[in-house]
Amino acid sequence: MSPAMEAKAQPQEEAAAPLNDDFSNDTVAHKSRVTVVGSGNWGSVAAKLIASNTLRLGSFHDEVRMWVYEETLSSGEKLTDVINSINENVKYLPGIKLGKNVVADPDLENAVKDANMLVFVTPHQFMEGICKKLVGKIKGDVEAISLIKGMEVKMEGPCMISSLISQQLGINCCVLMGANIANEIAVEKFSEATVGYRENSQIAEKWVQLFSTPYFLVTAVQDVEGVELCGTLKNVVALAAGFVDGLEMGNNTKAAIMRIGLREMKAFSKLLFSSVKDTTFFESCGVADLITTCLGGRNRKVAEAFAKNGGKRSFDELEAEMLQGQKLQGVSTAREVYEVLSYRGWLDWFPLFATVHEICIFHLPPSAIVEHSERTPRFSLLDGSAAQYC
Ligand SMILES: NC(=O)c1ccc[n+]([C@@H]2O[C@H](COP(=O)([O-])OP(=O)(O)OC[C@H]3O[C@@H](n4cnc5c(N)ncnc54)[C@H](O)[C@@H]3O)[C@@H](O)[C@H]2O)c1
Repeated sequence: MSPAMEAKAQPQEEAAAPLNDDFSNDTVAHKSRVTVVGSGNWGSVAAKLIASNTLRLGSFHDEVRMWVYEETLSSGEKLTDVINSINENVKYLPGIKLGKNVVADPDLENAVKDANMLVFVTPHQFMEGICKKLVGKIKGDVEAISLIKGMEVKMEGPCMISSLISQQLGINCCVLMGANIANEIAVEKFSEATVGYRENSQIAEKWVQLFSTPYFLVTAVQDVEGVELCGTLKNVVALAAGFVDGLEMGNNTKAAIMRIGLREMKAFSKLLFSSVKDTTFFESCGVADLITTCLGGRNRKVAEAFAKNGGKRSFDELEAEMLQGQKLQGVSTAREVYEVLSYRGWLDWFPLFATVHEICIFHLPPSAIVEHSERTPRFSLLDGSAAQYC
């Protein structure tokens, strides 16, 4: 970002504080029922976190429903039956007990019908179809939260997943993002997360309560788009970091790529939504998630393999081979971001984002990540005057 743009940056907001832990029963007229829509790696860990809290907190029903996209395992058994018999998602989170109060349900409608708190946590490409199936099937007083990283690009522009949920289902939707590699939280290693909310801080407080444990510290900020865009865009930067690792370019180069990536994340987010706050980038959902994803996430890992193979094997092939059914989000997000950039004429301003996509589709070699990202973007064009066209 140019010095001119830095000078125009908004005054720093107050740092987010952990929200009060005593959400009272007076405010909650009835016990809330929670359903987790999704049961992959992170979905299963989310169910585990939530299930430990619904048992502990009087304002929630003990049982946590978890919708499972049904699969038949190599043993011939249904995944749902196995989860319900041994309390473990043997495919996506093997070796971890979810809590006896987690009930797996392969029937989406049945799983959500009694819930008044819905936690969405599936790969983002499935969400539009899931929302269509849920129209008219959920209760009137439902609150939602999305743990999903990604966006949908439509003719009229990019649509964040929380907006897709809100628009299609007519419900309020918060987001939860952070430096959260699921397998580490599953074994209760300390980490942090950020809830992004729109207006209602009491709802945010309730989500914070539902997710917080001594090893999972959740804070809330009033910036849904900022939190969600951080979580979404860092997967594109993680691909760039993976290319650098695959090319064995070293730590300085990787740090430079991360810095350039963070700058593009911030500029892109603020161009799309002028409400996005600078301080959000310093929360767990921002720089912390960027660091952990560029050091240890699956996008980095597969991008490293892509570069080691000289960019000759496709991401689809590597994903199927390396991730055992888990999904990469970075490649589709890079394409979606590229579509936004080209549609709006912003490609020159975001050389790292643009180059990542062009590498993914074999238009450029992995080594282009450094050659192209180091071009000085015309960030002076990204001052306040550009934002009004978004
Ligand atoms: N895993 C992590 O460490 C992590 C951390 C933070 C956020 N996230 C985000 O959480 C979201 C979910 O990721 P995950 O790790 O739980 O999933 P995953 O990649 O581990 O698993 C894929 C899931 O998709 C399901 N699926 C496959 N085909 C489907 C279909 N046609 N319709 C619906 N579902 C289908 C599978 O059954 C499985 O549950 C993603 O947006 C991801 O970016 C993941």
